[in-house]
Amino acid sequence: FQDGSIHNEPVLGYRAGSRERQDLIEELKRTASVIEDVPIVIAGKNITEGEPRYQVMPHDHSKKIAKYYYASEKTIEKAIQASVDAQTRWDRTPLTERVKIWQTAAELMAGAYRQSLNAATILGQSKSVIQAEIDAAAELIDFFRFNVHFLKENSKYQPISESPTITKNSLRFRGIDGFIAAISPFNFTAIGGNLAYTPALMGNAVLWKPSDTALLSNWRIFNIMREAGLPDGVVNFVPSDGPTFGRVITSSPYLAGINFTGSVPTFNWLWNEVGKNLNTYRNYPRLIGECGGKNYHFVHPSADIQTVVSGTIRSAFEFCGQKCSACSRIYIPQSLYEPIKTGLLAERAKLKIGDPADFSVFTAAVIDDKAFARITGYIQRAKKNPKNKILGGGEFDNSKGYFVQPTIIETTDPHDKLMTEEIFGPVLTIYVYNDKDIDKTMDLIGTSTKFALTGAIFAKDQVFLKKAYENLKMTAGNFYINDKSTGSVVGQQPFGGGRMSGTNDKAGGPNYVMRWTTPQSIKETF
Ligand code: ALA
Repeated sequence: FQDGSIHNEPVLGYRAGSRERQDLIEELKRTASVIEDVPIVIAGKNITEGEPRYQVMPHDHSKKIAKYYYASEKTIEKAIQASVDAQTRWDRTPLTERVKIWQTAAELMAGAYRQSLNAATILGQSKSVIQAEIDAAAELIDFFRFNVHFLKENSKYQPISESPTITKNSLRFRGIDGFIAAISPFNFTAIGGNLAYTPALMGNAVLWKPSDTALLSNWRIFNIMREAGLPDGVVNFVPSDGPTFGRVITSSPYLAGINFTGSVPTFNWLWNEVGKNLNTYRNYPRLIGECGGKNYHFVHPSADIQTVVSGTIRSAFEFCGQKCSACSRIYIPQSLYEPIKTGLLAERAKLKIGDPADFSVFTAAVIDDKAFARITGYIQRAKKNPKNKILGGGEFDNSKGYFVQPTIIETTDPHDKLMTEEIFGPVLTIYVYNDKDIDKTMDLIGTSTKFALTGAIFAKDQVFLKKAYENLKMTAGNFYINDKSTGSVVGQQPFGGGRMSGTNDKAGGPNYVMRWTTPQSIKETF
């Protein structure tokens, strides 16, 4: 958008004495002082059923911040009915009215509710202040503003009418009759907002199953949208048990799409269920999935050492390596091994780990006990394998919160699980290659995992960079040259990967919104 018609929301600095810092401190206190009641909401009606469940603070797991309920099978079915009913009315709502709701919501998120969203993300998902601001403020607001912008831009294309006084051709973008299931992850509050509300913007009705561990922040988005004027039933808030939700939605003839971010096994399972039921649906369900990665940094002998070190530390350890884009494997040439290793270890040692509400903390706890067990399992295994050596970190403690120290491991086996499987935690593995084996090492990157989400190459040698791009182009949907593999910005680097990383529909890009529409060509004869 070189014409300057749209801008990204600025990321606030939270300097001592700043207004935003004061506001956030107050909001953190307020959020921490209550256990917020979060009902299931169907067609505007609150439902509480079954045993209550609790969202806790990952860095202090004795503290509860939200009380919620799982929707039963019957309730999920009711939500489907409510969505299907709402969809017809909603799709008739003029586009200008729909867009106004999104614009109002973006202003509420940027203003009155900015710190409420941040506080829920900091305390509920254990994000540091700056990481929350990037996600629950800037990226979320950007999704809302840019998706409206993409919709407007895409709608500008109209088919030609050769004799407009006799016949007029037009193309209308309609929502899909039925419902869309949005299944969102914990790691970005903004992703929840995007998965649930982009289909809605396009005229669809949605069943939103938020992640249990991002419940409070997602609930706050849901309420902002209500306040902004979204009619009841267009998005229904349905926390539920994953397999139950999956079974009920895939068995409904009204399933029109699944907007998913999560693991490969879950997405594959959903896809298989859809396949089994294909003859029963009214529409071919759209399946959009972002499913993970094994993101790499590849260092060429001509690379700038400081750029590699600072980029790798941030990519691997911000938000405990729980960004889908986080670097978890780095290939370093023998000739640069010593300075890069020394740099990484020195930077690692400086990272402050602790309470995410402390403004000086770099990163806090991993999301829950399951994540803690999985990540520490990889570390334990590495400790026992003579091919792997823990260079830094490797400690963990879950007595108060799920804390895993940023860990750097070196391996001599490029096919070790540490180099091939998604760990989704603060574990970075180094593989040192012989400077003569640059080509062989690049081949390894593409062949040793099934993922292709993000990747970065570091080099000053321009001839090499051209060649490397050709060699590595299928290994990353988001490819970085001399920059870390994380931090994509809506409208700047549309995000998503190929291979088993997902359907690569690029959240934060112009095509994404169009996946949620069923366009209609109209020929009008006068
Ligand atoms: N948009 C997030 C990033 O690139 C996932 O880090």
